Amino acid sequence: MNNLDQSIDRKNTLSLKWDGMKPGFGDDELLAMWVADMDFRPPEKVIEVMRERVEHGIFGYTLIGDSTIEAITDWVRKQHNWEIKPEWLLFSPGVVPSIGMAIQAFTEVGDKVLLQSPVYTPFFNMIESNMREVVNSPLKIVNGRYEIDFVDFEEKLKSGVKLFLLCSPHNPGGRVWTKEELVKIVELCQKYEVVIASDEIHADIVHAPHQHIPLASIDQAYDDTVITFMAPSKTFNLAGLQASFMVIPNPEMRKKMTAIQKLQGFSQMNTFGVIAMEAAYRYGEDWLKDGISYIKENIDLVQKEIAEHLPELEVMAPEGTYLIWIDCRKTGLNDQEIRERLLKKGKLAVNFGQSYGDGGEGFIRLNVACPRSIVEEGLERLKVSFKN
Ligand SMILES: Cc1ncc(COP(=O)(O)O)c(C=O)c1O
Repeated sequence: MNNLDQSIDRKNTLSLKWDGMKPGFGDDELLAMWVADMDFRPPEKVIEVMRERVEHGIFGYTLIGDSTIEAITDWVRKQHNWEIKPEWLLFSPGVVPSIGMAIQAFTEVGDKVLLQSPVYTPFFNMIESNMREVVNSPLKIVNGRYEIDFVDFEEKLKSGVKLFLLCSPHNPGGRVWTKEELVKIVELCQKYEVVIASDEIHADIVHAPHQHIPLASIDQAYDDTVITFMAPSKTFNLAGLQASFMVIPNPEMRKKMTAIQKLQGFSQMNTFGVIAMEAAYRYGEDWLKDGISYIKENIDLVQKEIAEHLPELEVMAPEGTYLIWIDCRKTGLNDQEIRERLLKKGKLAVNFGQSYGDGGEGFIRLNVACPRSIVEEGLERLKVSFKN
C-alpha cells in the first residue's frame, strides 16, 4: 500500500515543480505547491513493470498493443460508464499537444477559437501560437462556484467561432460540470457548427458526490461534434512519461487529426509511457481511491485553516482535481503585492491567478497532491504571507 504521508525529496531530480522554481520565480528555496503534478509515488505495479523493462534493457520503437487498448477502454467504461471503441483511439504525448493538433485540424490561421476564462494557461498559448484568435466567454462566480453564462456563450459562438476548448473538470476552478450544463454546451455548439475539444485530463480525480461525465458519452448524436482528451498523467502522477490518448468517434474527424500527426512525424509513443499507462489503468484503482480520499482531507484541512486564520481569503471548494483556487481579493492587495507576499515573505510557490486570463486576477492556485506535512507547512507559509 502506498504511503501518501511519506515525504520524498524531489530536488535535483529535474522536477519542473521543485527544480524549476529558480527560472519560474527567481528562488529555488520555496515550498513548491504550484505545477499540477503529485508528490506521491504512483501505484507500485507501475514501478514494477518499468523496473522489469529497465532490466530487459532494450528500448526500441514500441507498439501500442491490444492489451494497452483494452486497459484503456476497460478503465473508461468502469470509471466513467463510457463504452469507447478501440478504433476511436489516437495517441499523443500529452493533452497540450493534442489541443494544438485539434486547433490545426479543425481551424485555419485567423479563425476564432473559444475558451472560458479563467482557464489553464496553455489554452491561450496554443490558440495564439497557432495564429488563431482567442474568443473568451468568461465564467461567472455564482454562489461561490463557476458557472457558464450561456447568453454570453451563445453570443460568442454566433460570432463565427470554429472550435471550443472545454476544460472538464475545470482547472483552476475545480468545477465538475453537470449533465445539464454539458448538454446545453453541446446543443449550442451544434447549433453553430462548432467542434468541441473536451480536455478531460482531470476526469479521474473527482470528489463525491460529484461525478465526472465525459461529454461525448452523453449521446451518440454528439459523435460528430466532440473529441475528447484523456490521460493517466494527472490521475497516477505519470506526467513525465508523456502518454495520453484522444477519443474521436467520427472517422472524418479522426482522419483530420491523423493527418496532422503525420505532418508532425508522430508515430510511436515512449516505451515507458505505454507500459506505465497500461499498468496504472489495470492495477491502479485502489491506489486512486486512497489518493482521492487523502487529497480530499488535504482540501478540507486547507478550507478549515483558511476559514479560521485567514478569513479574508475565500476557498473555492473544488468538486474535482487536486487544485485549490483561492480568492485573495478581499485582502485589498493587487496581483503584484500578492506575488511578493507569497514568494518573498511566505516562501511559497503557487500559481498566480492572472496567468489564467480574465477573472483570474486576485486569485492563487494551490496544489495539494502532496503529503499532509507539506500542506501544513504551506498553510503556515500562507499565514506568514498575509500577516501584516
Ligand atoms: C486542463 C489541463 N490540460 C492539460 C494539462 C497538461 O497536459 P499534458 O501534460 O498532457 O500536456 C493540464 C496540466 O496541468 C491541465 O490542467
